[in-house]
Amino acid sequence: MDSIIISGGSKLTGKVKISAAKNSVLPIIAASLLCPFECKLEDIPFLDDVYVICDVLNSVGANISLNKKSNRISIKADNITSIEPPYELVRKMRASFLVIGPLLSRFGRCRISLPGGCNIGTRPIDLHLKGFCALGADVRLGHGYVEAYCNKLKGAKIYLDFPSVGATENIMMAAVLAQGETIIENAAEEPEVVDLSNFLNSMGANIIGAGTDTIRIIGVKELKGTTHQVIPDRIEAGTYMVAAAITQGSVVVENVILEHIRPVIAKLQEAGVTVIEEQNKVKVVANGVPKAVDIKTMPYPGFPTDMQAQFMALMSIAKGTSIITETVFENRFMHVTELKRMGANIKIDGRSAVVEGTAKLTGAQVKATDLRAGAALVLAGLVAEGKTEICEVHHLDRGYVNIVEKMQSLGANIQRIQKE
Ligand code: EPZ
Repeated sequence: MDSIIISGGSKLTGKVKISAAKNSVLPIIAASLLCPFECKLEDIPFLDDVYVICDVLNSVGANISLNKKSNRISIKADNITSIEPPYELVRKMRASFLVIGPLLSRFGRCRISLPGGCNIGTRPIDLHLKGFCALGADVRLGHGYVEAYCNKLKGAKIYLDFPSVGATENIMMAAVLAQGETIIENAAEEPEVVDLSNFLNSMGANIIGAGTDTIRIIGVKELKGTTHQVIPDRIEAGTYMVAAAITQGSVVVENVILEHIRPVIAKLQEAGVTVIEEQNKVKVVANGVPKAVDIKTMPYPGFPTDMQAQFMALMSIAKGTSIITETVFENRFMHVTELKRMGANIKIDGRSAVVEGTAKLTGAQVKATDLRAGAALVLAGLVAEGKTEICEVHHLDRGYVNIVEKMQSLGANIQRIQKE
């Protein structure tokens, strides 16, 4: 298990280019199962999670070629040999569950292990299954598996009790080849849902309204291959914006879509950080110690839950007290214990954390408990006095391409050490 060692105190300066969005790439790769023709994806971040979803597609017979030099992936699902991805792959990554929609849609059946929960919550899939049932599928649960069958899915109106990103995406992928029209109400509006919709429409699907709370999908007979450029990762962008703010630095974050990072820009500005917007980049300039601001995570376009941990690291050294409320996941404060080992003054009260800004954090040995908690610890280590060692950094490899190299290029004193 590798570790990351950081000696805090460097002000980050320079520029960093953001990679394509993990949470876009994963459903789009799954969606490539919907047709037997070649789908080409450009600018793909070769993250651990991307390798896992590719292994899942390989396991059912899809033909995948990865070109790490050109950051391209080509997928051809013209010889699907199984509708049951292996348990050990699905267990590794929850997003593997996104293959059930495409397999059910194109082949009328799928048998897949229930995705595990993870550190941030139980993460049920009831809304996914509600959608498949509404489309006419016979869905059975048993022995830790979901089995779904249907000769031909039929369009339906589906209301999501919560605007679940995964459920919206899975139902959308199931509905594109269904007979008739499907309407998803209270749909997730995340940019990654829009990117998936654009990808599906470029394959010949007929989806209207992605990015709003009501999405209409008019089923088509078949889909064709396509080439698609994935949107930039708004959470990676937000992470480097906070890195500039927490280290009193000045960083240009390149390859962003401004509307996707609006909530992070607004909250950094409220905290007294200067954010200069340009065409497809932002310049983040700290103006001394940030002011404490309150954060409440909400579905898009609210403040993203995937930025909550990173912002908590920033608020740990802010002037004043901030209240951070996590409304999306029920257990997304695993980073609090680790930040407190570094001297942060945080009290959890139900779904809120009260963060009393402290003058300084001190380096310590800490553990990444999940992807974004790991990112928060890197940010805290950048500003802490002395040395911080973060272990279990494999969590970071799931969502950040070359985080050590990118931080080094901005002047951070950060290394990765291989451990047995
Ligand atoms: C996606 O997860 C993202 N992952 C998550 O990013 C992100 O935090 C989340 O959306 C919210 O934005 C990918 O896109 C691969 P949800 P997803 O379904 O789809 C409840 C990261 O760090 N729910 O929107 O699993 C659920 O329990 C990861 O990059 C149900 O109750 O999230 C949760 O409380 C972490 N029933 C809430 O909805 C369901 O059937 C949001 O979950 C489905 C979800």
